[in-house]
Amino acid sequence: MRITILGAAAGGGFPQWNCNCRNCAGVRSGAVRARPRTQSSIFVRDDQAADGVLFNASPDILEQIRANPALQPNRRVRDSAIAGVVLMDGQIDHATGLFMLRERGSPLPLWCTDPVEQDLTQGNPILRVLGHYCGVQRERIVPDGTPFTIPGAPGLAFRAFALASKAAPYSPHRDAPVPGDNIGMLITDRTSGRSAFYAPGLGEITPPLFDVMSGADAVFVDGTFWTDDEMIALGLSKKTARDIGHLPQSGAGGMIEWLDQMPANARRFLIHINNTNPILDEDSPQRAELARHRIEVCEDGVTLEI
Ligand code: MLT
Ligand code: MN
Ligand code: ZN
Repeated sequence: MRITILGAAAGGGFPQWNCNCRNCAGVRSGAVRARPRTQSSIFVRDDQAADGVLFNASPDILEQIRANPALQPNRRVRDSAIAGVVLMDGQIDHATGLFMLRERGSPLPLWCTDPVEQDLTQGNPILRVLGHYCGVQRERIVPDGTPFTIPGAPGLAFRAFALASKAAPYSPHRDAPVPGDNIGMLITDRTSGRSAFYAPGLGEITPPLFDVMSGADAVFVDGTFWTDDEMIALGLSKKTARDIGHLPQSGAGGMIEWLDQMPANARRFLIHINNTNPILDEDSPQRAELARHRIEVCEDGVTLEI
């Protein structure tokens, strides 16, 4: 399968509009060697098909489509390679790009869990607003690992898993999490049998979830924060990474420790990277530490063949 990284940053993107942290100021001035990144989305196709599945509709979707010509195959006067959209949660960075797809001539095929549908019809009623434009053809994701397919992308199979992470602040479940607020997805190419696990928001790894991750040829997992207190240390928030549903990379029980236990031939990618994360600086010791653990950092516009 082919996975195109449309946006590798977390909410806010990199640099973030109002931020002058070391990374954001440094990438603007050139003092830090780092690449800008747009907000969290990937596009997945099997090895042959032109059409594929958009995971998350980022606020940056229009820029992402312009930057990645494969998403506009130009077969007819109105066209797109996006056969359907899958949402990993109902957060701003993953859902507000749906508004930008409103010019479709038919309802947008949209796969999401029941809790995410509630977030997007109650707390942030994007789906109700879209009803005044193209509307959505909503398909239910049950996050229990049952395999399913998406009609416009028949070469791929999907299994969704409920994750411990965090629903958006406007979610009816923000402080009372329910399974399906956030999901991880195992994506398999039905011809090659190769698979990838995608989880841009992942607050806790349980042994059953780690079994799923370990069975994949590649994982694309939560790269939001390097340390649990990253935002507190910078004076930008009172909350830890874990408080807002993101497992930090460093430290005991952190993402690096988990990824070290993956099978040797699996590729490990971090995605959904917050602009404060020192791994964005290509010359940082944290980036060098990732390299020692054979962990790669996703960049926008890169297509990976899995
Ligand atoms: C998160 O996953 O915590 C988000 O990126 C928050 C946001 O979109 O503002
Ligand atoms: Mn996010
Ligand atoms: Zn910043």
